[in-house]
Amino acid sequence: MKFFVDTADTAAIKELYETGLLDGVTTNPSLIAKSGRDFKEVIAEICAIVPGPVSAEVASLEYDGMVAEGEHLAKIASNVVIKLPLTLNGLKATKYFKDKGVKTNVTLCFSANQALLAAKAGATYISPFLGRLDDINLDGVQLIEDIRTIYDNYQYETQILAASIRSPNHVTQVALVGADVATIPPDVIKKLANHPLTNAGIDGFLKDWKATGQSIL
Ligand code: E4P
Repeated sequence: MKFFVDTADTAAIKELYETGLLDGVTTNPSLIAKSGRDFKEVIAEICAIVPGPVSAEVASLEYDGMVAEGEHLAKIASNVVIKLPLTLNGLKATKYFKDKGVKTNVTLCFSANQALLAAKAGATYISPFLGRLDDINLDGVQLIEDIRTIYDNYQYETQILAASIRSPNHVTQVALVGADVATIPPDVIKKLANHPLTNAGIDGFLKDWKATGQSIL
């Protein structure tokens, strides 16, 4: 499973990219607002840090506006992926970019039928929002499992990008049901490495090693 980081914080992106664990980045208008920075500047900076796919979201709700904004964003760098909302206009724009060879991420997906439409439109990625479904007591993992079945039934190439991930357990769950990618907040990515038994083991080994009085170098 590929790991994308879900943030517009370039310092956090750089730190994670240096671990070698990061395959790409997703942003959204709320994350850009939180950064307090110029949208296109941030996207250019992220694309210079991470060579993998970097999702940048359009703001227009009209087809013509989505196409104009998407074309503008695609010029920032060759690894920009145009993020479009799951509406009929967004799907029409997805088809437009597919025909032009520009990658797309169809976002705000909350049903299997929406995911089916995105695949038919030729989306590169579909983003089902796991956490936001869990927030209203619906089963986000089941949605991803259903999308996996549908895409496999018809050999759709659209990749399932599990989004709105809130915890390490979400990461395990989406990996178990076959998501192609998980986009994860930086703090959750870091938590994936943690285990109290790992920490306790390190403490114990270090104490015993010091008692030997040896050094490796
Ligand atoms: C995905 O591309 C979105 O940016 C993101 O995962 C939304 O997550 P949230 O529901 O925590 O805002």
